Amino acid sequence: MIELVVVLARLVQYAGAATLFGAPLFYLYALPAAGPGAARAMPDTRRLIVVAALLTAMGCGLALLAQTAMMSGALASALDPRALVMVATDTQFGASVLARAAASLIALVLVAALPPSTKLWRIAAALGALALASFAWSGHGADGEGAAGLFKLLADIVHLLAAGIWLGALAALVVLVLGARQAEAAAIRALHQALEGFSGVGSLVVAALVLTGLVNGWFLVGPDHALTAISTAWGAVLVAKLAVFALMLSLAALNRFVLTPRLERSLAGLDPTSALLALRRSLLVESAAGLSVLVLVSWLGTLAPPAAL
Ligand code: HEM
Repeated sequence: MIELVVVLARLVQYAGAATLFGAPLFYLYALPAAGPGAARAMPDTRRLIVVAALLTAMGCGLALLAQTAMMSGALASALDPRALVMVATDTQFGASVLARAAASLIALVLVAALPPSTKLWRIAAALGALALASFAWSGHGADGEGAAGLFKLLADIVHLLAAGIWLGALAALVVLVLGARQAEAAAIRALHQALEGFSGVGSLVVAALVLTGLVNGWFLVGPDHALTAISTAWGAVLVAKLAVFALMLSLAALNRFVLTPRLERSLAGLDPTSALLALRRSLLVESAAGLSVLVLVSWLGTLAPPAAL
């Protein structure tokens, strides 16, 4: 039971922190090219970031409670203030959760209080990056020594940030495509240009994920376990994750090379509705796949990797 709460807390934090970093970043590099239509089609740029910050902070609270129960072996001690303070202040896990909670609570207050602006999105993205990178200290990323340990930690941080750019952009695109449904051509044109703005970034993100994923894999599997890794629980969950990643990759390619050009052509035509619906469906499926990757990763981080067996 506690293990399930640990996985759930990781999932809520990953989803919140990825959006808190990737969505304001998307507002900075994709929306401006999309012009004023995007602002109208996406009236609630702030609401998405407020929800992401809130989710991250709540996930941190749940993670601390679950970890305290796990370490003391009793659910009841999750509410024991001394045990909670001990886990929060005397463990590396606690330090990373506190950093994440602080970054997300500051973002929550600033974004809720201030009007949307380029400067606000820069601050929110920076706080989101901090929240996301902090995971490297609470999972398998930080248990290395010396130069190799530092390389592994940096690879894990790049992996987390690349994941945040993709999933955060997806969250913003879903809000944009749902908002564009009822709106006029300007909003649909804005959606098309925002998609174009993301496509260049998308290829870099995929390359970074594959490269740093291989580095993570190398350290957590190791040459001695390469042939047996797949027969471990960790190996099986990683394979499932890579299968979902392949699905996301094919949907991203479909969006970029088929559905986005079709939306552009339909703008010249009379009725962009069918092109918009096809794109909306594909983005929703890709987002659901992205969430499934986070479910698998939340579980993966609680399993012993082959190199530790
Ligand atoms: C949509 C694509 C992907 C997303 C969203 C994603 C996300 C993540 C996240 C959030 C973590 C946890 C990092 C941490 O907490 O320290 C992670 C770990 C990892 N990822 Fe990925 N990843 C993706 C693609 C890949 C690919 C393509 C590979 C392999 C080539 C890969 C291999 C790994 C490995 C080995 C780990 C470490 C697992 C552990 O800590 O036990 N990932 N990934």
